[in-house]
Amino acid sequence: MLDLSKLDSSAVPRHVGVIMDGNGRWAEARGLERTAGHSEGEHSLMKTVDAAVACGVRYLTAYTFSTENWGRSDQEVEFLMWFKEDLLIRRRHELLDKGVALRFLGDRTDPRIPERNRRLMIDSEEHRPPEVITDLVLAFNHGGRAEITTAARHLAEQAAKGDVDPATIDESAFSAAIEQPDIPDVDMVIRTSGEYRTSNFMLWRAAYAEYVFVDTLWPDFDDQAFVDCVVEYQSRSRRFGGA
Ligand code: IPE
Ligand code: IPE
Ligand code: MG
Repeated sequence: MLDLSKLDSSAVPRHVGVIMDGNGRWAEARGLERTAGHSEGEHSLMKTVDAAVACGVRYLTAYTFSTENWGRSDQEVEFLMWFKEDLLIRRRHELLDKGVALRFLGDRTDPRIPERNRRLMIDSEEHRPPEVITDLVLAFNHGGRAEITTAARHLAEQAAKGDVDPATIDESAFSAAIEQPDIPDVDMVIRTSGEYRTSNFMLWRAAYAEYVFVDTLWPDFDDQAFVDCVVEYQSRSRRFGGA
């Protein structure tokens, strides 16, 4: 049973990001292929979604593939592409039933992404539950710098055409130019596996995020671990630069 007794339901983060790290090490420690760790991580993701729904987290963004992850072996990249497709096919109806809407963040126009994978993303986001509790955003081929660069390019193109006056480009105009602008700033970022870095995750939206780092490898993470992270977040004092 999920223990929510320490949770303050009036102060739940609106948007939580998760850097699901440590799959490879989990598998290697068991003498398995790295890809076995990715497969095992599916359970952790589903438990995390359940916990986010139980807590009332409105947006949950899971880092599934970074712009840097193309640098892995062909075999691992191919597996990760296939695995995402397979997961969407197997899980999207179950997610719909739970009130979870699927969304995607990242450059899906990249020609290295298989066509079938792209179609599944479009299809999954078109089918939203009648009442959405949580948006599950899969950050796929996402990079914080790529996201910022793309927004800057769009604004520059509009300015070059005379559609935008450069003097009006402020932080809110920039936020509106970034991919999926309705997804709010991220309040908390959880990273598993004992690594203390952002690895290029949602840099723009994470400007004032609280980071919670846990040593657990992603395949060992679960719903209670997620709730514990939210409780840790609730103990922080967010000052946003104020005194
Ligand atoms: C995170 O686990 C999953 C992806 C990056 C897709 P890793 O594959 O990075 O696992 P480690 O960090 O090598 O253990
Ligand atoms: C970040 O993990 C990317 C994802 C979890 C998808 P990485 O394992 O790729 O990051 P680094 O290489 O440790 O910084
Ligand atoms: Mg890693």
